[in-house]
Amino acid sequence: PSEEDWITASFRLYQGFWLSPRLFKGILTCQNHFQAHPSDILLVTSPKSGTTWLKAILFALLNRAKYSDSDSQQRHPLLTQNSHDLVPFLELNLYLGQENPDLTAIASPRLFATHMPYSLLPQSVRDSNCKLVYLCRNPKDTFVSTWHFANRMRPEEKGQIPIQEGLDKFCRGVSVCGPYWDHVLGYHKASLDMPEKVLFMMYEQMKVDPHVHVRRLADFLGCPFSKEELRDGTVEGILKMCSFDNMSALEVNKCGKLWTGAETKWFFRRGEVGDWVNYMSSEMGERIDGVMEEKLHGSGLKL
Ligand code: A3P
Repeated sequence: PSEEDWITASFRLYQGFWLSPRLFKGILTCQNHFQAHPSDILLVTSPKSGTTWLKAILFALLNRAKYSDSDSQQRHPLLTQNSHDLVPFLELNLYLGQENPDLTAIASPRLFATHMPYSLLPQSVRDSNCKLVYLCRNPKDTFVSTWHFANRMRPEEKGQIPIQEGLDKFCRGVSVCGPYWDHVLGYHKASLDMPEKVLFMMYEQMKVDPHVHVRRLADFLGCPFSKEELRDGTVEGILKMCSFDNMSALEVNKCGKLWTGAETKWFFRRGEVGDWVNYMSSEMGERIDGVMEEKLHGSGLKL
């Protein structure tokens, strides 16, 4: 089956997930050619769940030793490069249109991002000891964020997508790499089955207590903060660098463009929890809640 994309192309259902033709191509090539290393780290999200934020945090976390004094902090790559360039998507950047991208320049541990559902990951990712960090976000804010982004990506002459239309699609599972709930459930189950391999995180919890969750990330990745780092403000420095206010005010994020045509500023809209109430009626919110309740039933997961 195919479905008119929220933007321009058309989605196809492939092994239970809705993919654009571009994603489909990138995922298949990646599945066939990517060889994971045991030291690799993959950041996984459903789109609009906070990918840009976590890319920055992971990059800053893993490179913290290089930028620990005030001189080197002035040269921090996040000040002049957007986090999507620093942490590429496997299927959207590296393996789209090429079978053997040059990965030799990437220092170990290699940090990649992906929107691939768990069941579509390359076999080598599942077989190797590489680590996966999954970030999920409450479905109502994810939906509203997606709807805004889709409207921005859409050619002007096509007009805005009525929110009700977007909601119908979302609730039928039609979204990038959706159904949203199956994407989340795949990684949630993997995190319960293999807690040493998959870390399951939530955007809302990160917003409430980022300090705790950055430390949790560092522990999971085998690079815990030392006592000295905990005393000298290293964690606070990372959080400040990656905060919505700081990142959205950087020139590179205000004026840049990604190869997809998306402007980098579109990745920084509100960055808040519960913004859905400004766009959806309580009935619309209840509709998403109802679908989620049914789909997550028995999983132990509440979003
Ligand atoms: P909103 O549209 O609700 O504002 P992604 O990076 O997966 O595309 O997700 C984009 C969402 O993350 C947007 O949500 C964006 O504003 C938010 N975001 C981007 N940078 C952030 C940051 N540093 N801190 C918190 N949220 C951020």
